[in-house]
Amino acid sequence: MINIAVLGYGTVGSGVVEVIRTNHETIGKRAGEEIRIKYVLDLREFPGDPVEEILVHDYETIVQDPEVDIVVEVMGGLEPAHTFVKRALLAGKHVCTSNKALVAKYGPELMEIAREKSINFLFEASCGGGIPIIRAINGSLTADEIDEVTGILNGTTNYMMYRMDTEGCDFDDVLKEAQEKGYAEKDPTADVEGYDACRKIAILSSLAYGKFLDYEDIYTEGITKITPEDMEYARTLGRTIKLLGTSRKEQNRVYAMVAPFLLGKENPLYSVNGVFNSVFVHGNMLGDAMFYGSGAGKLPTASAVVADVIDAARHLHKTVMTNWNNEKMSLMPQDEITGRFFVRVKEDQAQPETVTSVLGDGEIVRVEQLGGEFGFVTHDMTQGEYQKKAEKLGSAIITMIRVKD
Ligand code: HSE
Repeated sequence: MINIAVLGYGTVGSGVVEVIRTNHETIGKRAGEEIRIKYVLDLREFPGDPVEEILVHDYETIVQDPEVDIVVEVMGGLEPAHTFVKRALLAGKHVCTSNKALVAKYGPELMEIAREKSINFLFEASCGGGIPIIRAINGSLTADEIDEVTGILNGTTNYMMYRMDTEGCDFDDVLKEAQEKGYAEKDPTADVEGYDACRKIAILSSLAYGKFLDYEDIYTEGITKITPEDMEYARTLGRTIKLLGTSRKEQNRVYAMVAPFLLGKENPLYSVNGVFNSVFVHGNMLGDAMFYGSGAGKLPTASAVVADVIDAARHLHKTVMTNWNNEKMSLMPQDEITGRFFVRVKEDQAQPETVTSVLGDGEIVRVEQLGGEFGFVTHDMTQGEYQKKAEKLGSAIITMIRVKD
């Protein structure tokens, strides 16, 4: 029998208990031994709940119990999650977590301990909820040199962008609606500013390129400045706007970024709508692959956590996260990243000919309802080049959004 302890009886924690209870028999068969939840740790009481009898309030009970083989950390946040996880690993207990903030910040330290002890620190649910992307990169795509990972990694903002596109709502209204539906948190900062997606692309890129990418090095821009007018231009161009976490490897140099992008219909991520997440991966042998599913939610996330529990149970004396390398990755400077840029321009300050003479050849686009301005899509240039040129147009530029080709 394998004994596990679940830290945190919130949405994901209660999902983990439900998944293990519902699929108890098959999970046991797949793990090779019965999986028993010995403890659930939470500060709160749950009178009448089936976990009442195994509920503990003191972490010492868990960390000092030699019968506990696997600790499931689904509390979220950095502390006390970090302390608890580190102590569990040092005590020789495997850890499975859904906590992207913990993995993005302390991944190298925690992985080092797991390796020294020949045990597992697993985090499938930290990126893309129920989508099996981490196991795919770590286990299935190992014959490839991966050169791109691009994802819709945040369900809240994808829902908001979708509603802005299809209903023409503005940012504040759609945020309120997302909060009412329980998609967006009361404090939506981590989602709408892109911080959540930033941690996820940092983790995925670390695994894909085999060096640790520090999330603090990633340029991150959220969706707070996107307006219904921007969406109108996107539609006129046959595109939509999505918040993407993206990284690419070009001649041994990597760049990574989180930002809203104008995405065309030919891009497979174009059709990923609502709260769904998706991750696009390109490998030098594989070509394109895409992984799609529920990026959040109680049972999809818990399903990924429990899959990690099964993996740990199958590998009690062997570290399976082989793609992780603690050597730090240095990123290509932002200025050197090449792409196309969409700008909205005030016509009384700069005529199309002026814009063309400054930014070079490009596509002029007009939206009928929006007088006094026009849109312009540049040709390929580096970001540094774009910035230098755009400075010459000064306040004539209303907004800039990157184009994803
Ligand atoms: N707030 C996240 C999202 C939850 O909206 O995708 C899953 O990490």
